[in-house]
Amino acid sequence: MKLSTITPLLLVPLAARALPTSKWGKSSNDIPELSVAEWEAIHNPSSAASYAYSKAAEWLSGQEQDDVTDDSELTIWQLLNKDQDKYSKVTKLISLIPKAKEVLDDRDGSITFFAPENSGIPDPHHHHHHGDDDESLANLAQNPTIDSLYAHHVNTFESHHDNDDDDEKKRRRKEIFKFIVGEVLKYHGLPEALTASELASNNSVATALIPKFGANDGQPLRLRVEKQLVPPSLKLNFYSTVTKSDIKAKNGYIHSVAKPLLPPPSVLDAAFLFPSKFSTFTSAIQKVGGEGAVMWQYNKGESDKAKHPVFVGAPAVTAFVPTNEAFGKLPEKLVMFLFSPFGTQCLRAVLQYHILPSSVLFTEHLHKVGSHHKEKRGWIADEVKEMMDNDPSYHVEVDLPTLFNNTKLHIVVDKSRVVPVPGAIKTKLTVNDIEASTYDIPALNGAVHVLPEVLKPHYKHPHKITGELVEGGWENWEDWLVEWAESV
Ligand SMILES: *[C@@H]1O[C@H](CO)[C@@H](O)[C@H](O)[C@H]1NC(C)=O
Ligand SMILES: *[C@@H]1O[C@H](CO)[C@@H](O)[C@H](O)[C@H]1NC(C)=O
Repeated sequence: MKLSTITPLLLVPLAARALPTSKWGKSSNDIPELSVAEWEAIHNPSSAASYAYSKAAEWLSGQEQDDVTDDSELTIWQLLNKDQDKYSKVTKLISLIPKAKEVLDDRDGSITFFAPENSGIPDPHHHHHHGDDDESLANLAQNPTIDSLYAHHVNTFESHHDNDDDDEKKRRRKEIFKFIVGEVLKYHGLPEALTASELASNNSVATALIPKFGANDGQPLRLRVEKQLVPPSLKLNFYSTVTKSDIKAKNGYIHSVAKPLLPPPSVLDAAFLFPSKFSTFTSAIQKVGGEGAVMWQYNKGESDKAKHPVFVGAPAVTAFVPTNEAFGKLPEKLVMFLFSPFGTQCLRAVLQYHILPSSVLFTEHLHKVGSHHKEKRGWIADEVKEMMDNDPSYHVEVDLPTLFNNTKLHIVVDKSRVVPVPGAIKTKLTVNDIEASTYDIPALNGAVHVLPEVLKPHYKHPHKITGELVEGGWENWEDWLVEWAESV
């Protein structure tokens, strides 16, 4: 592969992820193990969640008092350097990026840094070079984990191998490499200083990574924060546990994390990561050619023409993704119909009904695409007129347009206190009365929420005299589905 052909791809920092599952598996054997069942258990009201919540809340409230250190005059950068046993690998990467170092070492700053520990970053396999640098860089752009970045750094820049590439090429590669490292590091940072218990009060938080080239409508990528139960701690993006929190620095807090964070892929790629959960959804999207509605992808042809990176697809969306079991709950004949050549239009309509093309909805954050001027903070709680001071609970109802004929979904976010546990909050997200089993999964181009049922449209028979809403489940789908899907 020639450098010229891959360069634009590399500029696509975290975007170029049009990779099927097998590729992911191959290029990194350390993709964190994410268990959807685990997320679901935590949110399932009938589980021992409330008890566990209280344990986690107790632990969190104990954290701040316990962890007083004498080092709070040192900056985050200085503290990381001081603890080489734990952080030498990440500090090595940080030193490559002067800007990152500057931010972490700025005594006047107020930030948070999730520091991946050495033990979570495997030592690289040293390998011989066969002039394949461009290709390894391309792989890196597609899979920019700290592990792979660290391995690439050690293999390429620390081993003094000779090759015949000219200096210009080398310099360019290094630039690209540094760009990717910089972006990934930003995903480990927050632009404000937050303790573990402050973090735990919300389900997601905005990171310092604002993706380039229009992804996420220019909004920072978010990080999922969750109280983990055994052992009590915080878990980030469902896989990286905070092993030591609230390490106080002059310019904020370090939270030590077991695994480096991976900036999220786009909505469709996120679904591809869990074939056992979402293969019906992903193959349905492919069947109707709907990838562009949920992907944000680099387009080489257009970029070559325009001479700058051009992306296609959906820059910022919310997808409500029904699980395989959810599709399994539909009448058998309906599933056969939807996946038959005759059902394509209905399948497309049903899928479109699950996608919000112009809103990024998290349980705490709502961004309407293109509304940068009007909205300052985007807190969904701002929609609530009267809120009590210091009360983090709220109930918000919004109707947001889907991709199908602008029909709206009725969305309710309910954050309430778990009585009688002080400080514990439970979140419930419902869409047309269906409760999401997992919510707030961050994506490069928006948000994903998991549904245990396929959403049934609210539909009035225009031809029936009564014009009543079609009630009940999907049993009588033959009476209305085709008509509904075609009435656009
Ligand atoms: C949590 O969300 C609320 C809005 O519901 C916001 O005011 C607060 O700043 C958020 N906290 C963090 C740590 O992001
Ligand atoms: C699609 O939109 C048109 C115009 O608003 C409306 O008349 C029609 O009923 C809609 N169809 C469905 C299925 O909602």
